[in-house]
Amino acid sequence: MSARALIASAPAFQADLLGWYRAHRRRLPWREEPSLYKTVVSEFMLQQTQVKTMLPYFARWLEALPDFPALAAASEAEVVKLWEGLGYYTRARNLHKLARALVALPEPPRTREAWLELPGIGPYTSAAITSIAFGAPAAVVDGNVVRILSRLAADGRAWRDTTAAGKDLAPLADALLNHAEPGDHNQAMMELGATVCTRHNPLCTVCPVRAFCAACRAGEPEAYPRLAAKVIEARTVARAWCRRASDGALLLHRTDSSARRLAGQHELPSAEQLGLTPEALTGAGEPLAVKKRGITRVAFTEPIHAWPEARLPRAPAAGGLVWVPPGELESVLMSGPHRRWVRELLARA
Ligand code: ADE
Repeated sequence: MSARALIASAPAFQADLLGWYRAHRRRLPWREEPSLYKTVVSEFMLQQTQVKTMLPYFARWLEALPDFPALAAASEAEVVKLWEGLGYYTRARNLHKLARALVALPEPPRTREAWLELPGIGPYTSAAITSIAFGAPAAVVDGNVVRILSRLAADGRAWRDTTAAGKDLAPLADALLNHAEPGDHNQAMMELGATVCTRHNPLCTVCPVRAFCAACRAGEPEAYPRLAAKVIEARTVARAWCRRASDGALLLHRTDSSARRLAGQHELPSAEQLGLTPEALTGAGEPLAVKKRGITRVAFTEPIHAWPEARLPRAPAAGGLVWVPPGELESVLMSGPHRRWVRELLARA
């Protein structure tokens, strides 16, 4: 439908969406016995992570830190360790700061505007948290919602990215919001985007709001939203697998804790971190493994090469290099990919 026709049909749209959500929603731990704390923790974890990945983290987190006072009293090291593997660690630090700010208040604020003043809270989280926990009339706009709205209205505007699209689509999101049930309405939109109105092969035949959808009627849901193709840069980072002969300790690079993205994380060292040129490391022979991963707009290829202790160019105490004995490898902080690589290569040895 056109945006105008859609807005005129808002009550019917809301009713169909909510009916579907109540019948088909996934039974998720923060939905079954909701609390402000569970809502906040789940929304932070879900910012860059899918539900199925974050569920075990969510369970462990609630067990270790069951409420805001427990989180506020925890050390940063404990908080970051519990987050290990979820990535984007700034979220964990912000969640920690948020808990400290909230316990200092007589009671948590209830409006979107007041939440926006708190640490780590942006337009999306403020709307999600206050609508779900307090019934505040705030529509969420994330990638899922952008996809749904652009398809409903067959909005063919070309956008630079999801954020730009979200700004343009926010008025439509607001106009369609169910003011009687804003929390369930928002969660229904997210749920629809995650399970039915998917980026590829959307399940239009079972969509509860297909009667309102112009893109479905035209048979081309995947044409929306029109987002500029991401420019992906390819980068190679050669890494070393270096064990100490005396006790089998593994040489890791520990990121300076002032470097925000990976503060305190241990990683297999790159050639540069060892004081080698990449050619020296990769010229030593076939890699033990070649890993590929994407981080935001960079496609990384990371060959891991065995490197003998005797050929290290400098004393490993320099530049954040540390020897970690086999018995301590599981307890040091490591990003998810490095954790997997280390486990895999240890299992082969
Ligand atoms: N993504 C972000 N918040 C969510 C929620 N409450 N339910 C499902 N997916 C989400």
